[in-house]
Amino acid sequence: MQVFVHPNRAVLRALCALIVGAAVIPSCLIAAPAVAPIVAAPAAPAQNSSPYTKGQKTRDGIGVYYFGREIAHYMTHHGAPWLERGEREIEERPDLVMQALALKPGDIVADLGCGTGYFSWRMAQAVAPAGIVYGVEIQTEMLALLDVLMQQRGVTNVVGVLGTAEDPKLPQPVDLAILVDVYHECSRPAEYIAAVCRSLKPGGRLVFVEYRGEDPEVPIKPLHKMTQAQVKLEMTGQPLDFVQTVHSLPRQHLIIFKKRAAP
Ligand SMILES: C[S@@+](CC[C@H](N)C(=O)[O-])C[C@H]1O[C@@H](n2cnc3c(N)ncnc32)[C@H](O)[C@@H]1O
Repeated sequence: MQVFVHPNRAVLRALCALIVGAAVIPSCLIAAPAVAPIVAAPAAPAQNSSPYTKGQKTRDGIGVYYFGREIAHYMTHHGAPWLERGEREIEERPDLVMQALALKPGDIVADLGCGTGYFSWRMAQAVAPAGIVYGVEIQTEMLALLDVLMQQRGVTNVVGVLGTAEDPKLPQPVDLAILVDVYHECSRPAEYIAAVCRSLKPGGRLVFVEYRGEDPEVPIKPLHKMTQAQVKLEMTGQPLDFVQTVHSLPRQHLIIFKKRAAP
């Protein structure tokens, strides 16, 4: 059996060598614990019009609103070392995330917005040997890092995919698609999630892991958090049924939907 060690020091060294001028902690994400979340009053987009409205652009956002929520600017590849920081094991408990996903050998998985592959390689172990994890990104730099880090870990069943803001361009139907700390950054969420749903197998699961927007104690900036109610609201037009929310994570919630059976 292949044993995967989390080579945190080696990973960080590789990342620092690959990213010139990398900021170890992207300031867009960390907030002082006292900062209260801004939970915009949700408003459903008018029918037959764009689901997006333009509004005030705040420091961390793109000035485009979806269901009353300003979409966050995506984290650039300069934040890659932050994704591999050792504290994540305590702050995000990836072991509990993996437990909640209950992946099986042979499953086909899409890690949407995979970044450096922090979750890709964990899921790759769970679905090996026949399963595949598609690591999808919009930044080629992240895909380059994914490639290097998977090689370093000896992982051969993670496949990088360059998607767009509207379409992850998955090469085949998947059993599970997951977005860890990504959905709030999706600049075209309506089109993106619709495309993901088309690539889900019947009964396939779509999972969101987001920092809890309801909790002012979670030290992450408001636009990089989401409430459970907001995620559910934004899925109302999609062919999805809500399954459950897992509350066992220290700072995030893990929200599971299932592709609705065709009528
Ligand atoms: C905060 S990072 C999280 C990375 C990874 N999921 C993790 O937990 O380590 C967010 C990533 O999502 C990517 N991203 C944002 N919008 C995306 C989209 N529409 N499709 C794919 N990737 C996207 C960004 O490029 C960035 O690498």
